[in-house]
Amino acid sequence: MSQSLLLGSGWHPPLFRSEINALFGDMKVLHPRIVLLEESIDEIFFSRISRSALVDDLLHFGGHSFNSDFESIVDEISNWCKDNLPSGSFAVRSKKLGSGVENISRRDLEKEVGAKLFSEINPVNLHNPDFEIVIIVAGEVEGEVHRDSLEFDSCIVWGIRENNWEKSDYLGRQPMERPFFKPISLEPRLAKLLISLAHKKGKTPQNFIDPFCGTGGIAIEALLQGMDIFVSDLDPTMVYGVKKNLSWANDDDENIIEVEKCSVKNIADLWGAKENSIFVFDPPYGRNAWKSDDGLELFLSALEQALKIDPDSVISTMLPAGAESLENNPNTDYIVMGRRWSEIEEEINQRGWRVNLRSPVKVHKSLARMVVVCHPLH
Ligand SMILES: C[S@@+](CC[C@H](N)C(=O)[O-])C[C@H]1O[C@@H](n2cnc3c(N)ncnc32)[C@H](O)[C@@H]1O
Repeated sequence: MSQSLLLGSGWHPPLFRSEINALFGDMKVLHPRIVLLEESIDEIFFSRISRSALVDDLLHFGGHSFNSDFESIVDEISNWCKDNLPSGSFAVRSKKLGSGVENISRRDLEKEVGAKLFSEINPVNLHNPDFEIVIIVAGEVEGEVHRDSLEFDSCIVWGIRENNWEKSDYLGRQPMERPFFKPISLEPRLAKLLISLAHKKGKTPQNFIDPFCGTGGIAIEALLQGMDIFVSDLDPTMVYGVKKNLSWANDDDENIIEVEKCSVKNIADLWGAKENSIFVFDPPYGRNAWKSDDGLELFLSALEQALKIDPDSVISTMLPAGAESLENNPNTDYIVMGRRWSEIEEEINQRGWRVNLRSPVKVHKSLARMVVVCHPLH
């Protein structure tokens, strides 16, 4: 079994695929929420996938079919399982994505495949099986919040669940559970997503830099991934608070954690050159900040400073945008940070960066954020 199947969160399928692309590189897309990697599941794979925010399930890939004839699907799945299921007890579990596949009942699939596989060496155990055969009945996406332009056909996909992996949970580290809380605190899933998007395949970042660290919502997630932390903020209250939050989250004394009061305009002098860095931040925003050019100026300063610290780094950030940007039409010049996106992109290019990814995220009815990932122009 050398291919791995990743099932993504329904919250934002396009960003799920971008995340997997950043962490693993090339992949085959079977459905907006299902991707295949030509990699077997080993230690390196585990360390990468533990960095993902939007993976919901991990399977050793069995096969997929666009066929919708019930009997032949049952045969395909059970034949594959007969060749690949190790001895031990099993359960067949199914999942329906979106509208599912016409004429295919997932409950009937579970029953029929289970009946065909059941034997002395493979008894059924629904409560505590050694192996779980997972069948995903993947159809049209329903009620999507984030527009996805990917074209695809409904399909049925199956494999054996990897038991030594659990999807991320954020128990005990939601913003209000940390010792220092402010309403600006970023929630951990978004923070983790911004960090994973800053990865490049085959390279694990060493240094995490956030020049607008606030309460440290992003820094906490980077620390938990074993990165060295270099964070700063202009507000001394935040500097005090982020120190508290980072020492609360730190359970490993080997990481470097440096926190300073500093304007974004001076971080290159503050930190000096640092190879293998990523810059992940949530710049200041608010009613007034983005109405003047000052907010934009701060963001652009971050770009200039980052290039001085590490000319090969990656920037991953989230910028305020209007709710209309959720239409995600590549040809529309949406307003981001109070300016046309084309103007912002030009400013980014002038600072030596190119936009690698731009994807809107819904905050609430009338507000969105544009997730933006930049790589150096060279
Ligand atoms: C949106 S908040 C960041 C929130 C943070 N991600 C968190 O999880 O708490 C932006 C931060 O930028 C800081 N800031 C504003 N102007 C700045 C400047 N010129 N240089 C550095 N930090 C600044 C603010 O004090 C604020 O803490």
